[in-house]
Amino acid sequence: MTQSTHGSPHRLHAAIIMDGNGRWALARGLPRLAGHRAGAAALTRTVEAAPDLGIGVLTLFAFSSDNWRRPPAEVAGLMQLLAEHLRSETGRAVENGVHMEVIGRRDRLGGELAAAIAEAESATAAGARLHLRIAVDYSGRDAIAEAVRQAAHAGLVCRECLEEQLGPPVDLLIRTGGEQRLSDFLLWECAYAELIFSRRMWPDFDALDLEAAVRQFHARQRRFGGVPAAPLSPDLPGHGPGHQRNGAVVTGAWLD
Ligand code: FPP
Repeated sequence: MTQSTHGSPHRLHAAIIMDGNGRWALARGLPRLAGHRAGAAALTRTVEAAPDLGIGVLTLFAFSSDNWRRPPAEVAGLMQLLAEHLRSETGRAVENGVHMEVIGRRDRLGGELAAAIAEAESATAAGARLHLRIAVDYSGRDAIAEAVRQAAHAGLVCRECLEEQLGPPVDLLIRTGGEQRLSDFLLWECAYAELIFSRRMWPDFDALDLEAAVRQFHARQRRFGGVPAAPLSPDLPGHGPGHQRNGAVVTGAWLD
């Protein structure tokens, strides 16, 4: 947990691009959907570990608006898995104080998934330990366009109005699967996010990986465009586990 400017503990907003399910399955001679199923189990492990690591908001990219381009059988399997997951996890979420919310477009989802989302959201609405946001049919550019549209409709387009509509700023963004890109995820909210990449495929991600990512986040120096109290020496940040620079640990973007 970090201290906010008011001295109260700031609970982190972590966001994760859960990439690598397909490659994980392929490496085992399994269908891609088996990778997504194993990915859902990794998601459950991550949600359980998050609150004790100081994470108050966790946003997970489950289905991008561009994922409709995948083969129909994979899309249908993912939608069914999502609905099953929401149903099977709701009881545990209520017990653990997890407030589940789905962000993204709703109008293209099937009736079964839409019903599972509505039930999960209303059953867990009182959860205060972790705000879990699952992005489904989500596009960061569409989310910004929609926020602007709504603000314009209300008669005032301003930075604060858009921030309120879009959600809290991301503190750390983790992407598994070895790629280093944003893929249209939380574009506005990630303005000052610390980016952390893991070569691990998402189904292999566990609580220790999340803990390592949070530790790496705390080792970074966030300046938000300002200058540090003590000037930094000019040597360039290293890649890999991190090195000392003016007493602060400087880390690369890779977690492993
Ligand atoms: C990216 O891996 C992953 C997805 C497109 C889906 C993410 C879904 C889950 C983690 C499981 C289902 C979610 C819930 C909420 C139950 P990829 O398929 O692009 O992997 P690849 O890059 O190796 O092909």
